[in-house]
Amino acid sequence: MKSRDYDLEAFWMPFTANRQFKAAPRMFVSAKDMHYVTDDGRKVLDGTAGLWCVNAGHCRPKIVEAVQKQVAAMDYSPAFQMGHPSPFRVAERIAKLAPGDLDHVFYANSGSEAVDSALKIALAYHRARGEGQRTVLVGRERAYHGAGFGGISVGGIPPNRKAFGSMLPRVDHLAHTHNLKENAFSRGQPAWGAHLADELETRIIPLHDASNIAAVIVEPMAGSTGVLIPPKGYLERLRAICDKHGILLIFDEVISGFGRLGPCFAADVVGVVPDMITIAKGITNGTVPMGAVIVRRGIYDAVVNSAPAGAIELFHGYTYSGHPLATAAAEASLDLYQEEDLFKRSQAIAPYFENALHSLREMPHVVDIRNLGMVAGIELEPDAGKPGARAFNVFLRCFEKGLLIRTTGDIIALSPPLIISESQIDELVDILGGALRDSGRD
Ligand SMILES: Cc1ncc(COP(=O)(O)O)c(C=O)c1O
Repeated sequence: MKSRDYDLEAFWMPFTANRQFKAAPRMFVSAKDMHYVTDDGRKVLDGTAGLWCVNAGHCRPKIVEAVQKQVAAMDYSPAFQMGHPSPFRVAERIAKLAPGDLDHVFYANSGSEAVDSALKIALAYHRARGEGQRTVLVGRERAYHGAGFGGISVGGIPPNRKAFGSMLPRVDHLAHTHNLKENAFSRGQPAWGAHLADELETRIIPLHDASNIAAVIVEPMAGSTGVLIPPKGYLERLRAICDKHGILLIFDEVISGFGRLGPCFAADVVGVVPDMITIAKGITNGTVPMGAVIVRRGIYDAVVNSAPAGAIELFHGYTYSGHPLATAAAEASLDLYQEEDLFKRSQAIAPYFENALHSLREMPHVVDIRNLGMVAGIELEPDAGKPGARAFNVFLRCFEKGLLIRTTGDIIALSPPLIISESQIDELVDILGGALRDSGRD
């Protein structure tokens, strides 16, 4: 290991076992295309697109140059009551990519802020239409919607909520859709589970009354909680119930957006048009922080047209909404995705990825392998009394052998950059298979 000219103590690392990490750090110092390089000079194959964000691979010259050029031309421009061209151009392009009449874009700086913004827009929309009593927000168990108070309230991951006292009031949760007994080793969307959406109509609506419910927010494919693929027909049913009762449907596509599942959005995979889509990560290929909410025209019109002329219509926003570096990175990323037809490539390589991953079925402790597009989850039987330890051990072994994977509890998540080649998929599966085999011997 390289000797360091800095100390590790002061940085309180996010979602990290700080003491364990600082005792045996894992450091990246550079990245190119499909690989990271560690501080001791080892190449590591990126099996996770960083954190589900580097869809076109690392340090792509087009994006790097666009950001360099922008920082030299205009580093910052005020986000309130002033504009600069790039966020308008990006919004127009996102509106063209989004399904249906989702054609307005509100910028934030992260997925968490995008989620908070979407929840606030839902409340503001109902209020603007004279239904200000609609304040109940419905999330789902095991959902991850970021780390803000809005996100953890509608989110459903117990450790993310446990230490933080009061959440938003008036929140309820649907049951999650994960069921190993019915759906283990499904390829693509599992057949069982569409009926789980009915709980919205049979339990939640009667409890709160539809007239009080503002919105339902779900990840169409729940990534961070361990790759939960939507059952066939489930999202369609949620849409129908929300429509029937005037409830907004928000898809959190922070992970699933920008080709991760093949088409640009998960909404396109299932043919469901939500009322809002939250995005982040892939919008800038992970290069500069950015989040956004894509909003249906009717929502924008209702909020904006209900305010007096000359008045600010939505009292919400961030100093860095539409930051010049972020929008420059977004424009270059969208160019690159288009030039390389990356979403088509994602669809084309997905069957190879699926077959390769499912070849690990007989490995020790594997209880499920599931996949959709360029995402896969491998669930391991937990070691008795040590939840998460088995998968983390596989993570460490993979890292030693030159592969980055991600684990949540005892679930391994894979989401490589969409430029991965067949031979790199073979390499990924080879290293992962070896690590599963070796850790099975412990
Ligand atoms: C579905 C979803 N929503 C929101 C977030 C939060 O994004 P950020 O970490 O940029 O705040 C994430 C992050 O992984 C996510 O997966």
